[in-house]
Amino acid sequence: MGTTLKEFLRSSELKIDESLKSIIVSIAKGSVIVQSKLSRIGVDGTAGATGAINVQGEEVQNLDEEANNIFIDAFKKNGKVAIVGSEETENGIVLNQEFGEYLINMDPLDGSSNIDVAVSVGSIFGIWRRKDNVCLNDNSLLLKGREQVAAVYVVYGSSTLMVVATDSGVQSYSLDLDRKEFIITDDNLQLPNTSKYFSVNYGNWDNFSAKTQEIISDLQSKLSLRYIGSLIADFHRNLLKGGVFIYPADIKSPNGKLRLMYEANPLAFVIQKAGGIGISGKKNILDICPESLHQRTPLILGNTDIVENMFE
Ligand code: AHG
Ligand code: MN
Ligand code: MN
Repeated sequence: MGTTLKEFLRSSELKIDESLKSIIVSIAKGSVIVQSKLSRIGVDGTAGATGAINVQGEEVQNLDEEANNIFIDAFKKNGKVAIVGSEETENGIVLNQEFGEYLINMDPLDGSSNIDVAVSVGSIFGIWRRKDNVCLNDNSLLLKGREQVAAVYVVYGSSTLMVVATDSGVQSYSLDLDRKEFIITDDNLQLPNTSKYFSVNYGNWDNFSAKTQEIISDLQSKLSLRYIGSLIADFHRNLLKGGVFIYPADIKSPNGKLRLMYEANPLAFVIQKAGGIGISGKKNILDICPESLHQRTPLILGNTDIVENMFE
C-alpha cells in the first residue's frame, strides 16, 4: 500500500515541528481539490480566462483564481499560517495576525498557458518561519530564500506528484487517486550527478545577449532539449533526470520573467537540498535580498558543475 505522506510526517524523520507538518498536509489536501478541478475543466466549463488581468499584467485563467482560493481556504482552516503572498494577489493576505507561525509565498497555478491544452501544470510554495511577533504586512513576506524552512511543489500531470524539501532533505510523493492520499516514492531525492537535458524557450533567441546565446549553444552541444513551458514540469523532469532549466534576462524581460518570491526561491531551495544550485546569473538565488513581492529574476536551475560559473 506504501507509506502515506501523513505516516511519513508522523515518523518524525523530518526534523520539523507539528505546525509545519500540518501546513504540508494542508497543501496536499488543497492539491487534491486542484487536481480534481483540472481533470474536469472541459466538463465543468472552467477552461479559459476570467477576463481579469492580474498584478503581473497577465490574463487570469479560471484555474489560477480557483487554485488561489483553494489554497487560501486551506491555510485559513489550518490556522498556523500568518500571511500568504500569492502570484494572483497584489498584496499579502493576512490570515492569522495573533497565532500564525509561518509565512508562505505561493504560485497557486504555475504554467497557466498550458491549463486548457491538458499539459502538466503545478503549484509552488515557499515557507518561512515568522520572526517573533512582528506585525504582519507585505514587507513581512520579503525574506531571503536562504531563510526558508521548507519548499513544496505539486505537478499535475499524467500522475500527480508532490515534492517536499526541508533541512532534513527532499522527499517525493505520488497521489493515489483512489485513496486521495500521497504515497512516498523517494525519501531522499537527489539530483543525478550528470545532466541529460536543458530547458529554454528558443523563441526568445533573438532577444538574448551574445553571452546568453553562447551559453545556450554550449548546452545544446552536449544535452537534449526538453521545454514544456510550465516551469514546474520542466524543473521536475530535470530534478529527476539531471538537467538545466534556464530562463535568462533578455531585451524583452531585462529582469527575467520568473518571480523571485514564489517561483525562484522555492525551487532554488529544493534543488540546493537535492545537491544542485539555482542562480540569477552572478548570484545564488537564495542570497537575493527581495525588494518587492512580485519582483522578477533571471533563473537558472540545475547541476552545480554546469550552472555555478555559467555567467562568469
Ligand atoms: P505562470 O503560469 O505561473 O505565470 O508561470 C508561467 C511561467 C513558467 O511556468 C514557465 O516556465 C514560463 O512562464 C514560460 O514562459 P514562456 O511562455 O515565455 O516560455
Ligand atoms: Mn508560475
Ligand atoms: Mn501562476
